[in-house]
Amino acid sequence: MTTRKESAGGAGSPPESRYRLDVHHGGAAYEDALAADALTGLTGPVKSLPPKYFYDADGSALFDRITTLPEYYLTRTEERIVKAMASRWMAEIRPAELVELGAGTCAKIRWLMDARNGASAPQRLLFLPFDVDARTMDGAVRGLLRDYAFLAVHGIIGDFQRDLSRVPAPGARRLAVFFGSTLGNLHPNERARVLQDLRGILRSGDCFLLGVDLVKDTGTLEAAYNDSAGVTAAFNRNILAVLNRHLGSDFDQAAYAHEAFYDRERSRIEMHLRPMTPQEVHIPRLGGLTVTVTPDETIWTESSYKFTREGVGEMLSAAGLPLVDWQTDTDGMFAMALARRD
Ligand code: AVJ
Repeated sequence: MTTRKESAGGAGSPPESRYRLDVHHGGAAYEDALAADALTGLTGPVKSLPPKYFYDADGSALFDRITTLPEYYLTRTEERIVKAMASRWMAEIRPAELVELGAGTCAKIRWLMDARNGASAPQRLLFLPFDVDARTMDGAVRGLLRDYAFLAVHGIIGDFQRDLSRVPAPGARRLAVFFGSTLGNLHPNERARVLQDLRGILRSGDCFLLGVDLVKDTGTLEAAYNDSAGVTAAFNRNILAVLNRHLGSDFDQAAYAHEAFYDRERSRIEMHLRPMTPQEVHIPRLGGLTVTVTPDETIWTESSYKFTREGVGEMLSAAGLPLVDWQTDTDGMFAMALARRD
């Protein structure tokens, strides 16, 4: 499904005429995908749900709270690195187009746009935010158009594992950005596919800026996913509320314990939901399916892979996006990788 809203105008024109939105993954498509993913995930030998379904309005609000927790160092560390580097990157790359995967509330892209705002005669910039949630994007874009006069926005609502190739081809020097180590929520084969699609919406010489969480001691990693305030536990359980709303199911959130641990062998945090007593769940919109979940098993809800410079370099090279810059905080907690399409 594609709906078009408003078309781009000149920089001096009112905000509305600088904003266009393409929807490739709206209501029905989202629910169909959720139903198919839930059926696959809950009927296999190992029960799982894809982490992209955490992010309804409640889940997004819980994630925002996670980013401010003392244990969750990722967001504030990424912010420090990007803010320190933004002017240099924007001056060196001189992008005329910015694509952001998983743009959400568009708070992070402002770190780069503020650097452009600082320039004396800022060049026009086309921003192409890509995200699953149209409502969040709509609010975010209105704020951006208000704050940055040099901006035109072409939003794309889609699933970056499915719809990335529908981002319009570049018309000028493009910088694609993927913050937050969100790429780390995908398994290696899935990441390779997304990076291949991403390469397809860049031209030779275009850049890609990627935020990645780094391998470190188990204590620090596990604390970030087991915060003492219990926000991550609530975020984890909220995926069951998302299923209940869209599939009419009767998951009892309170019956599940939050589990998160680091698997050093696979360099990933795993998050799970483990029932404290046997659960029988009815799922009307999956043909009245009944699923039993017992305390000796879990529903695996997320993997969050942790990276090394070497691993990121190999992953990006394999995708035809060789690394050209690597910036970390002084403690080596988080990194920004800058790649350039060959
Ligand atoms: C979506 C990658 C930023 O894996 O750290 C936070 C989501 N999950 N706490 C991550 C998340 C649990 C997060 N990212």
